[in-house]
Amino acid sequence: MVDVAILGYGTVGSGVVEVLTTNKESINKKAGKKINLKYVLDLKDFKGDPIEEILTKDYDVILNDPDVKVIAEVMGGVEPAYTFVKKALLKNKSVVTSNKELVARHGAELLQIAKDRNINFLFEASVGGGIPIIRPLNQSLTADEIYEITGILNGTTNFILSKMADEGLDFETVLKEAQDKGYAERNPEADVEGYDACRKIAILSSLAFGMHVDFEDIYTEGITKITDIDMAYAKELGYDIKLLATSKKQDDKVYAMVSPIMIGKEHPLSNVNGVFNAIFVKGNVIGDVMFYGKGAGKLPTASAVVADMVDAVKHLETNIVSFWSTKKMKLTSVENISSRYFIRVASHSDRKVKDTINNIFGDVEYIKGNNKMQEVAFITQADTEKTLSEKVNQIKNMESISQVNSIIRIEK
Ligand code: HSE
Repeated sequence: MVDVAILGYGTVGSGVVEVLTTNKESINKKAGKKINLKYVLDLKDFKGDPIEEILTKDYDVILNDPDVKVIAEVMGGVEPAYTFVKKALLKNKSVVTSNKELVARHGAELLQIAKDRNINFLFEASVGGGIPIIRPLNQSLTADEIYEITGILNGTTNFILSKMADEGLDFETVLKEAQDKGYAERNPEADVEGYDACRKIAILSSLAFGMHVDFEDIYTEGITKITDIDMAYAKELGYDIKLLATSKKQDDKVYAMVSPIMIGKEHPLSNVNGVFNAIFVKGNVIGDVMFYGKGAGKLPTASAVVADMVDAVKHLETNIVSFWSTKKMKLTSVENISSRYFIRVASHSDRKVKDTINNIFGDVEYIKGNNKMQEVAFITQADTEKTLSEKVNQIKNMESISQVNSIIRIEK
């Protein structure tokens, strides 16, 4: 028998208890040992809840119990999670977590402590909720050199963009509906500004490329500027607009970016709609692989947490090697990557504005839109981000253009 503890009895924590209870027998068989939930840590009281008897508010009780070998941290946030997790590892207790903020910021250090102590720090649930992606990167794809990971890593924004595309609604209306239905947080910043996806691609990139990718170095743009008019243009062009988190290795240089991108119907991520997530991985031997499923939610996330608990129980005194060193990776600037831009500009004179656009951008593809606004929409040729942004700055200062309404990247 192995004693385990859960830190946090919120949505994910209660899901972990539910999974451990519902699938108790098969989980114990798969772990090869009986898993005994000895403690749940939370500051709140849960009167009448079955976990009431094992509830504690004092972390030291768990930390100082030598029988507790595995701890599931599902509190979220960096502190006190980081302090708790580090203390647990230093006491030779394996830790599993769903906490992407913690893993993105301190993953390399915590993995190193676990390695030094021959225990484990596992975090399958931190990216893609219930979708297996960390273990495949660590174990199933080790024969490959990974050179690209591109994913829809945030369910909230994918839900919003899908609904805007399907129903022609604007961002604010759909966000409000998502908040009312509980799909989006009251403070939606982390999701809609792309910060959540940024942390997740930082974790995946660190594992794929073996060095610490700092999320603060990743160029990140959210979806708040995407309008119903952009969606209508995208539809006319046969594109979907998705918030893609991507990292690519080219000639030993790695760049990473989170940004809304127009993608064609043939793109493998184009059909990933609603709250679903998907991660597309390219390896030099395997070719293309894709992982798809629910990237959030109580039970999908708990499923991944419990699977990590089982793995930790199976490897109590054996470190499952991960390829993520504490050495920081210097990312190449997105200025050097090549893009095409979809641009909408407001103008007073159609003719003059087209002359200006052609003078600055050369040949472009003009798009006939259905909207009644006095504006011109076009797609640039592929160029570096640096050149394109310089040209956008130039166009902003031209007399014939009153405003740049929208700029969205298009997959090449
Ligand atoms: N807010 C996240 C999402 C939850 O919308 O995908 C899972 O990390």
